[in-house]
Amino acid sequence: MSQLLDGNAVRDQIKAECRPRIECLLAHAGRAPGLAVVLVGENPASQVYVRSKTKTAAELGIYSETITPDASITTDELLQQIQVLNSRPEIDAILVQLPLPSHIAEQTILLAVAPEKDVDGFHPYNMGLLATGRPGLRPCTPAGIIQLLKRYQLPISGRHAVVVGRSTIVGKPMAFLLLAENATVTICHSRTRDLEDVCRQADILVAAIGRAALITGTYIKPGAVVVDVGMNQVTDPAEAERIFRPDRLAAFAKRGSMLVGDVHPGDVERLASAYTPVPGGVGPLTIAMLMQNTIEAAERRTGLPPSQC
Ligand code: GUN
Repeated sequence: MSQLLDGNAVRDQIKAECRPRIECLLAHAGRAPGLAVVLVGENPASQVYVRSKTKTAAELGIYSETITPDASITTDELLQQIQVLNSRPEIDAILVQLPLPSHIAEQTILLAVAPEKDVDGFHPYNMGLLATGRPGLRPCTPAGIIQLLKRYQLPISGRHAVVVGRSTIVGKPMAFLLLAENATVTICHSRTRDLEDVCRQADILVAAIGRAALITGTYIKPGAVVVDVGMNQVTDPAEAERIFRPDRLAAFAKRGSMLVGDVHPGDVERLASAYTPVPGGVGPLTIAMLMQNTIEAAERRTGLPPSQC
């Protein structure tokens, strides 16, 4: 029997741990943590993610505001808006939702966010802290995955972890976080030869590729722990037939599309010792960790570690 790793349950635990820290900040610093989200343009998926982030912030009593420049904003104009947020004392945390429109210099924007307010952990300074094993703000999705593994008491130390994907958001920071937990880490990407063979060596397999159910049974060592970061909409009926069991195909026919991860759902359930479902696995953890990072940034900026409460 394989164990389902419930991201919603871990999200609820993390959120519950956030509440007393927010109360402590209110009592001792006289204000709630403040989060500013910058959402450029009208990407529908980004709008959904950002709404979910600000809704969770409100639920916890974190102050948040969303800045929504038009898609036509220039890099220089956006840089000015970031500078304003950097200088506002009541804003502890700044998040620039990605992807940005293609005419904007994404690296320049991410570099402009003050590192102590960079709750995504994407600034090269924070990436450098991570790579050199120093404390700092960590990218939310991979940090959430470490929390999930630890809270389910799945051992990491000494295990061979294979990370498929080398993005700044997930793959690279995931590899460093696993390394910091003493895993032996392999990073795979689009040029990796014999991807299937490398994945099959993994005790812990993290799939962050963005390709629907690419990781099938032949990529999974029986008994492995499999973490699926993918969120892909399947609309092609032939593809749906390859991925979903007959009982779920009915739902697909009704809706015309279904969400699937990077891992084949039936194969992972059959082979893994533990795995994250899609939806309900990694997704909920990202927002919980964003709340935790926002609180951490506020604690550092106000000089109030939680031990003071
Ligand atoms: N787009 C997809 N995931 C993320 C994330 O974790 N942070 C930001 N800023 N943008 C994203």
